Amino acid sequence: MRILAIETSCDETAVALVEGDGGMHDASFSILGDALYSQAALHAPYGGVYPSLAKREHQVNLAPLATEALREAGLFSEGKLKIDDAVFVGIRDDEFKNSTRKFLEETTKPEIDLIAVTHGPGLEPALWTGINFAQALARAWDIPLLGIDHMEGHVVSGLLVSSGEKQYKMHGVMFPLLTLLISGGHTELNLMNEWFSYEHVGKTKDDAVGEAFDKVARLLDLSYPGGPQIQEAAARSRARGGTDIEFPRPLMHDDTCDFSFSGLKTAVLYKLRAMEEISETDKEEIAQAFEWRAIKQTKPRGLVVGGGVSANTEIRKSLQEMLLKEAPEVTLFLPEAELTGDNAIMIGAAAYLRALSGKKSEGELSALGNLTLSESNV
Ligand code: KG4
Ligand code: ZN
Repeated sequence: MRILAIETSCDETAVALVEGDGGMHDASFSILGDALYSQAALHAPYGGVYPSLAKREHQVNLAPLATEALREAGLFSEGKLKIDDAVFVGIRDDEFKNSTRKFLEETTKPEIDLIAVTHGPGLEPALWTGINFAQALARAWDIPLLGIDHMEGHVVSGLLVSSGEKQYKMHGVMFPLLTLLISGGHTELNLMNEWFSYEHVGKTKDDAVGEAFDKVARLLDLSYPGGPQIQEAAARSRARGGTDIEFPRPLMHDDTCDFSFSGLKTAVLYKLRAMEEISETDKEEIAQAFEWRAIKQTKPRGLVVGGGVSANTEIRKSLQEMLLKEAPEVTLFLPEAELTGDNAIMIGAAAYLRALSGKKSEGELSALGNLTLSESNV
């Protein structure tokens, strides 16, 4: 099954062509084409993602990226189509309508079976751009369209293992599977007892962990996105022998599995004058605090981690060490480095698994900015 997948929930515009093979237990994926444009540098002066700028950039970049991905996949051939106006009903912006029309008029319908697009959670104006574009393609080419939860994409990306150049296969997954999502907008724990069934275990009461990294980075005069900058700064500090600074654990002091990061951010603010860089211990504690209680409580057979922050090498290391020491019976799944951040490959892979299981979203798609995984249960 060939899937054209689109991701525009935040500040990455991505289009991928993913070919899925096999069943739920032995699925494998060939990445036929993958075009991604990160707007991070454009948003850096604002210290975070600026929604109307993100939307505008998605509008400008979707058509060229789709052409690039199709070309890379060898699925592009020039066309001379006349496209009916009804195809563009969702698109109000004239420039965006024109670039989508031009793309469709100049591209022959490719050999694909499904179009998948992120429909939430994320910035609604950004999500709508991807949805409108995907909808226009689906209508013009008469190909089914599937809405995918961005966070489910991150879960699936954590379960993919590289099996060759532009090839991934799924790890054998055993349920229950605890999912830990740590990204710029989300920090949550869910328990999967089977595919596509998410039971809420815990979440952040305030900032997401990536957001905490970004805010602390701003306090430290490091540029956006803050995660990678803090990782580098911490490595330099470690190379000099480390630090004694300690911060409070980002756990809520109750018997839930919820977290809170605003206290950590405030602690950094107070310590700032006394410190040069954020400590290594701090990151290890973040990782540790995240999974520990949840593992005790839910007794999963596997822990899958996904989201931009899972790129952090110290967090990856301490998760591995912790699990080995405290719960060796639990298998840890971490995404390949290139799949930690936002991308369209994970959306295509999740769409394949949904399509295989016959779990499809019904009716017209709309942007669901606050979509949560437990709402994505089908
Ligand atoms: O999943 P993602 O690309 O976008 C969202 O869905 O939010 O995550 C982006 C977040 C940003 O907050 C960024 O600072 C953080 O992931 N991040 C990191 C690292 N790389 C990216 N945080 C810590 N260490 C990293 N190496
Ligand atoms: Zn993400």
